[in-house]
Amino acid sequence: MNVMQPIERIKGGVHEKERHESGHKHVTGTAEYIDDMPEPAGLLHAYLGLSQRAHAKILGIDFSAVEASPGVVGILTAKDIPGENDVSPAHLHDDPVFATDRVEFHGQPVFAVIAETREAARRAAAKVRVDYEDLPHVVDVAEAADAGYPLVVTPMTLERGDIEAGFSRARHVVEGEMRIGGQDHFYLEGQISLAVPGEDDEVALWCSTQHPSETQHMVGQVLGVASHAVTVNVRRMGGGFGGKETQANLFAAVAAVAAKKFGRAIKIRPDRDDDMTATGKRHDFRVTYRIGFDGDGRIEAVDATYAARCGFSADLSGPVTDRALFHADNCYFYPDVRLRSAPQKTNTVSNTAFRGFGGPQGMVGGERMIEEVAYALGKDPLEIRRLNFYGGEGRNLTPYHQTVEDNIIGRIVDELEASADYQARRSAILAINEKSRVIRKGIALTPVKFGISFTKTEFNQAGALVLVYADGSIQLNHGGTEMGQGLYTKVAQVVADEFQVDLSRIRVTATTTGKVPNTSATAASSGSDLNGMAAADACRQIKARLVAFAAERHGVPESEVVFEPNTVRIGAERIAFSDFIAAAYAARVQLSAAGFYKTPKIHWDRAAGRGRPFFYYAYGASCSEVSVDTLTGEYQVDRADILHDVGRSLNPAIDLGQVEGAFVQGMGWLTTEELWWDAKGRLRTHAPSTYKIPLASDRPRVFNVRLAEWSINREETIRRSKAVGEPPFMLAISVLEAISMAAASVADYRIPPRLDAPATPERVLMAIERLKAARR
Ligand code: MTE
Ligand code: MOS
Repeated sequence: MNVMQPIERIKGGVHEKERHESGHKHVTGTAEYIDDMPEPAGLLHAYLGLSQRAHAKILGIDFSAVEASPGVVGILTAKDIPGENDVSPAHLHDDPVFATDRVEFHGQPVFAVIAETREAARRAAAKVRVDYEDLPHVVDVAEAADAGYPLVVTPMTLERGDIEAGFSRARHVVEGEMRIGGQDHFYLEGQISLAVPGEDDEVALWCSTQHPSETQHMVGQVLGVASHAVTVNVRRMGGGFGGKETQANLFAAVAAVAAKKFGRAIKIRPDRDDDMTATGKRHDFRVTYRIGFDGDGRIEAVDATYAARCGFSADLSGPVTDRALFHADNCYFYPDVRLRSAPQKTNTVSNTAFRGFGGPQGMVGGERMIEEVAYALGKDPLEIRRLNFYGGEGRNLTPYHQTVEDNIIGRIVDELEASADYQARRSAILAINEKSRVIRKGIALTPVKFGISFTKTEFNQAGALVLVYADGSIQLNHGGTEMGQGLYTKVAQVVADEFQVDLSRIRVTATTTGKVPNTSATAASSGSDLNGMAAADACRQIKARLVAFAAERHGVPESEVVFEPNTVRIGAERIAFSDFIAAAYAARVQLSAAGFYKTPKIHWDRAAGRGRPFFYYAYGASCSEVSVDTLTGEYQVDRADILHDVGRSLNPAIDLGQVEGAFVQGMGWLTTEELWWDAKGRLRTHAPSTYKIPLASDRPRVFNVRLAEWSINREETIRRSKAVGEPPFMLAISVLEAISMAAASVADYRIPPRLDAPATPERVLMAIERLKAARR
């Protein structure tokens, strides 16, 4: 029992620049991924056999060479599945684990080989002889529509005002089309699952999944057992980026079925080529648009259709194409508007979540329309952007009838324009371009507004389990998963802050369905919003019990029990936190609690296209400058300036990392990463030799990244922070538009370059040649 001590601050509380809890382990190679775990005795390995046709009937399969291959223990086909042969996350029964009588894309899993080593299984799988009868296939989204292919889910329409009245009011009307490419996740750790069979119908899995609860549910469905028999564990992923939101389920299901069939532990890990071939990616889009505007560039009406290549099944294509429409407006008020989605079926791998979840594609389409207006009027696109920002009388309603209440894009853009010295640099670039024959420069400043919440309202809930041990150390478990984004660190900071103890006192344990049930995917950037709140709730329950205990024991009012840094003040006394917890334990106070949170205020009626799908918006802006070689189409990013809004940051160090990483990943998507399918429907870009992610040398030469430190979430989120995972991905649009400006310079900025994405050097060169020809 001490007398008064000076109050210090805890180490590692919220708003502190705390390092990632595993950062030192990532760089020293001591962070344990599933393939690093000690292997259980008797472990066998599974490897998938993939379809060699884009669309065909399977007439027969000859496994004799596979079975005769060294080390092979057995084979798994759809016949071995005790439950349902389906892992459709949309519950549409269109996602078989193994194809049966028909394959619908090149690379679709048909069977699995189980062998003593992974190499033996991989070699054996290639020896299969499948008798196919080819059927007509369609790979491209426009061709699929022409061929009468169905949509994978009911499309959505967002409509407000009177679209025809809007167009008749408009002085100018422009029509166009844009193609926006897809993207492979290229997580460093590929898909992997380890299944260990247990007693009766039990099975335990270690799986690289963003959505342990869904993996649990899907494994149960495929095995034909209840969820209580399946436990899914995830300590960390080596990146997910949306690619492990649903795509991990198939691997987990195959491992689990094999584990039960052979009574041995099973590991499955495809190599990079097969991972890229057999798992879904970002949807590529074809956007057709009509935009009406007045003589100043003020938008009157927008009518656009967003068609997406969804692949052979629905997966998450419904909500992904919905989110594209939710972001087609970006920061701009459209007086009269109609936006339609077309989630198109094709004979390709089923596309899935990827950072931004369709939002980036929606926004790129919206920004293309801004460029159309600017080039048609010969104005700086930034001027057109400003003119059309949400704000002012009757100009705050989105196409989905949610009112924008927290708009700070004006201030963000103004500040960035000043700090990046945009106007002076743009003038200088215009002057340089006039004289420069080969190298042309471009600069663009683009804004971002991104809606936070799952648009499926029920997903916006989370749970946490906080355990305080008698020695005063704390274990934290929540439903969110760690994929490098720093969620574990942030939620631990929240717990440290709640108890007012140093962060080192908190240990975050692996996410497991055995501790927190019915969790949502760690996705939609909402991991810290949801799990941070749930953990805070658990802490407050424990604190309430501790406060009641202390007040009674010391005969003081509850208001005089205060958690101070690493101590508890009770009346005039101060007690070290660990002594206080030991006393509470001895007095039989319950020291653990399950917390819960659900996001308030949100609702969404998809059929009506109305509601408040988003709790709030995250904002940001970026300004990029590029140099383009007009003879080769090659370019480099000379400088990028970013100002991004994360509300009151839970951890500015991690948030800055998220902003930088997202920008570079977005740059890769819009510039060099190109997915290419050949006429037979084979993905030909399935390794780093042909699929080009950004290199360290591609980073902006000057890279100034700042958080908008003055921003505070006006909604009551965890410590007034904002989600950060996805929104900054779309900051990369300024790179595409800067390249576009450099190309436009060859035709005096009067012809819209209509640069499709990715703007590979080839595509840039073709745009330049097109503009040169049009100018002549
Ligand atoms: N950052 C890293 N390092 N690795 C990742 O896989 N995924 C992104 C983003 N940042 C990802 C990442 C995606 S797609 C999302 S939705 C969010 O992190 C998910 O985590 P959060 O909700 O905790 O922000
Ligand atoms: Mo992120 S695409 O929501 O996993």
